[in-house]
Amino acid sequence: MSSSPPKKRRSQAWFEGHSKDNFIHRSWMKSEGLPDDSFDGRPVIGICNTWSDLTPCNHHFRDLAERVRHGVLQAGGLALEFPVSSLGETLMRPTAMLFRNLASMDVEEAIRAHPLDGVVLLAGCDKTTPATLMGAASVDLPTIVVSGGAMLNGRFRGQPIGSGTHVWKFSEAVAAGTMSEQEFMQAERCMSRSSGVCMTMGTASTMACLVEAMGIGLPDNAAIPAVDARRAELAQRAGRRIVELVRQDVRLSHILTRESFENAIRVCGAIGGSTNAVIHLLAIAGRVGVPLTLDDWDRLGRDVPTIVDLMPSGRFLMEDFYYAGGLPVVLRRLLEAGLLHGQAPSVAGGVLADHLAQAQCHDDQVIRPLAQPLVEQGGIAVLRGNLAPDGAVLKPSAATPELLRHTGRAVVFESIEDYKARIGDPELDVDASCVLVLKNCGPRGYPGMAEVGNMGLPPKLLRQGVTDMVRISDARMSGTAFGTVVLHTAPEAAAGGPLALVRDGDLIELDVAARRLQLLVDDAELQRRQAAWTPPPLPDSGYVRLYVRHVQQANLGADLDFLNGCRGDAVPRESH
Ligand code: FES
Repeated sequence: MSSSPPKKRRSQAWFEGHSKDNFIHRSWMKSEGLPDDSFDGRPVIGICNTWSDLTPCNHHFRDLAERVRHGVLQAGGLALEFPVSSLGETLMRPTAMLFRNLASMDVEEAIRAHPLDGVVLLAGCDKTTPATLMGAASVDLPTIVVSGGAMLNGRFRGQPIGSGTHVWKFSEAVAAGTMSEQEFMQAERCMSRSSGVCMTMGTASTMACLVEAMGIGLPDNAAIPAVDARRAELAQRAGRRIVELVRQDVRLSHILTRESFENAIRVCGAIGGSTNAVIHLLAIAGRVGVPLTLDDWDRLGRDVPTIVDLMPSGRFLMEDFYYAGGLPVVLRRLLEAGLLHGQAPSVAGGVLADHLAQAQCHDDQVIRPLAQPLVEQGGIAVLRGNLAPDGAVLKPSAATPELLRHTGRAVVFESIEDYKARIGDPELDVDASCVLVLKNCGPRGYPGMAEVGNMGLPPKLLRQGVTDMVRISDARMSGTAFGTVVLHTAPEAAAGGPLALVRDGDLIELDVAARRLQLLVDDAELQRRQAAWTPPPLPDSGYVRLYVRHVQQANLGADLDFLNGCRGDAVPRESH
């Protein structure tokens, strides 16, 4: 019986042979000190690094990349590290989200253009995980994500304080007059104590959890602290493992299946994860070609209790989560309750369930039993109605239960600038029962869809002790934020969505149990307002021009329309 010759690796198209091109490909690489046998057909692994001085959350990635490199070499591969755009949440203006799709293009084209057989994605700060995964998914090589891990717990005056979550709390306390500016400044250095991402269950840690839940990261990827030696050890194992995946030709699309996405949605509910995950997962699914809709989020997440008691929904922080057993405990509890596809594949080998047998909870306060959840119905509520025909989202675990069914008078801000100019006005006609409405902060309106949906409450109400109000916008909110906040209203105001038609004094009804968001204005009046509406001017040059013309609405993942789908690993046209 004749056996077919072994399939050639992708990198051999560059490195194998005696042509002028092969000479060029090898000779220049030899300038890096690589010996001849580096090009003998061994797996070539790209280490896609989002390190940057401008992204503090990813600042330890050079060390992490070295650990991956060690692992690749140990397994007989060749490791080649390359930089891609880094998106730091705290410094980038107007918002890092404006550049998520741009960074994904960078990642996609860098992977496809180079002689790589597999890739390890080093991702941490919020947008770096979806951006690298979206780019890699559009090429579909064997891929593993190594997340950067969270920074050490914050602590101020003996109390745990969480990234982001306490920034909002402290700034509202200053506005309410219950915290001095001096104390505020002192808290600053107590919050961010080490390398790593925000140590609350914000967007970065949510995405790291979903990476592990989808089987595209190794077990424990989500929760090991950034500076814990076990994070370096995991990176090294990922380096070894990616070489195996290349040898077995296990591609990203073999791992990211419909079941994997369903697992991620359920896990997002169980951890009280960020609303940003909705947009990112929809965009990633769009690249892999897995059908996923906003309604899947509601349907699959609805009955999942939130069992992880982490800020912003709960009390603890990511270090506590790891010491309590981390994500494997959550996965095991969901599996035992029939809420997880245990047969979904994993880059660690076998299926997800294979890696959960050893999972043990060491602190039931941090990771609660399913029977004693933090929130009975976690997940993300998807709202619809004449104010959001294509959907809007709300995170019940971060909201005030009494406000989940509420009708109030709209106080409207036409833009974030309008909001900033008037929110502090003592004459603003607002009380605690009102609904704050912020327009023109969606993907097109505030190019990039800024995290301003959890707009601060009017200072005069904060001083009266008001702690939450219903807020509605087409914006996003930070995963570290909290409140009864309706987000991602689609279509957005700048695209002519009904949000654009809301006026001061209109009544708005929110009913989360019924999944309803309704503007209580009759249709004839709304049609009159629609006829009078004019779209805002569009930017006429630069990347933003491309972005606003092609960005899809939030319910579709806010990817650029021409980036949907997988374009494969074939180089469109050979050079030389
Ligand atoms: Fe980077 Fe929060 S700011 S993870």
